[in-house]
Amino acid sequence: MTSPVRLALLGCGTVGGEVVRLLHEQSADLAARIGAPLEIAGIAVRRLGRDRGDLPVDPALFTTDALGLIKRDDVDVVVEVVGGIEPARGWLVEALRAGKSVVTANKALLAEDGGALHDAAAEGGADLYYEAAVAGAIPLLRPLRESLHGDRITRVTGIVNGTTNFILSAMDATGAGFAEALEEATELGYAEADPTADVEGFDAAAKAAILASLAFHTRVGAADVHREGITEVTAADVASARAMGCTIKLLCIAARGVDAAGGETVNVRVHPAMIPRTHPLASVGDAFNAVFVEAEAAGQLMFYGRGAGGAPTASAVLGDVVAVARNRLAGVRAASESAYADLPVRPMGEALTRYHVSLDVTDRPGVLAAVAGVFARHDVSIATVRQGSAGDAGTPGRGADAELVIVTHVAPDAALAATVTELRTLDIVRSVTSVLRVEGGV
Ligand code: HSE
Repeated sequence: MTSPVRLALLGCGTVGGEVVRLLHEQSADLAARIGAPLEIAGIAVRRLGRDRGDLPVDPALFTTDALGLIKRDDVDVVVEVVGGIEPARGWLVEALRAGKSVVTANKALLAEDGGALHDAAAEGGADLYYEAAVAGAIPLLRPLRESLHGDRITRVTGIVNGTTNFILSAMDATGAGFAEALEEATELGYAEADPTADVEGFDAAAKAAILASLAFHTRVGAADVHREGITEVTAADVASARAMGCTIKLLCIAARGVDAAGGETVNVRVHPAMIPRTHPLASVGDAFNAVFVEAEAAGQLMFYGRGAGGAPTASAVLGDVVAVARNRLAGVRAASESAYADLPVRPMGEALTRYHVSLDVTDRPGVLAAVAGVFARHDVSIATVRQGSAGDAGTPGRGADAELVIVTHVAPDAALAATVTELRTLDIVRSVTSVLRVEGGV
């Protein structure tokens, strides 16, 4: 058999430990699939001497000098599972420029400065693979960057954050509020001690940027993604969604659009939205992830599975390791970054969506007409209006309150937002109790 392909592993936490374990347990199969054995040349960690359980690896392989390890002549492939922007960016750029292939799970870095990594890969003639960066175990990036390259993707809609999906699924199932569902997620280990990156949508926004870049052959960064988290979603919103035959999910949406001059654009956003219970994404519960891809020739495709966790993420990492190791042995590299389309990424205001608006209004003649007039002034077409029973206890037309629930047709987000802003100024509107986007056709 040919000489081994030697790996530098950067990070040995939950995912890194599983990578080590699988490399050990599957070594014969991996060697057969690649045509050469894989060997760990070294493992860079922050602290030596930490208890790593019964990890099947020689303790002498651990080092705190990541850069020194990357630069070693006997390292062919660098596997990074540390995360964060620095020092990971410096390490990976160094490796790629030196012609060493990189496998990384670092979504934050790819979304922040993926261009630097792709440029370094092109410079060094190395492979850059990152299947584990989005939706854990789900084979998703390879289909986007290879299998669907004969097609034209029009839209990607995904649930790419397991923590928030667990929380929203719990709210939907039990009627709990956000705080209570977050507490449960923390107790069960789904939410981290500091859940900000998940519940405020930063994690999903990074993944949305990576998906949009691949789907639309355009560099999209985290800063291009409109981001809203789930902290404001209430039990009343969830109940309101249920009354409409919907559920609420934190969606990442990357879609093609058209500007005023007819030119192609891209819009990328992350926010909670109502989707019909009949939509394939509505049945994605617990901490699972799923991504719904729409392409012109392929039609609708759905990718589903575990988006986090040591073993599922390690599965995606090892799949990439096998691919880059094979390329190395064959003396080839994978197709480089495809960003030729370079489409303009347009702001949220231009995204086409629908709103579900709940209002507490004074119940007297002319109120509905006044509210409808606001929608009309902003060129927003109303699809349905439902009036709740808040006014039933009072004397009709004598100052009791009513609840109005209005769902719109599709309109630019800016027009919908301006409508809500004006509604808040009307003295007949006591409060706008909830505003949620509606996606997926209701
Ligand atoms: N924290 C992420 C999630 C997993 O909850 O899905 C890592 O991307």
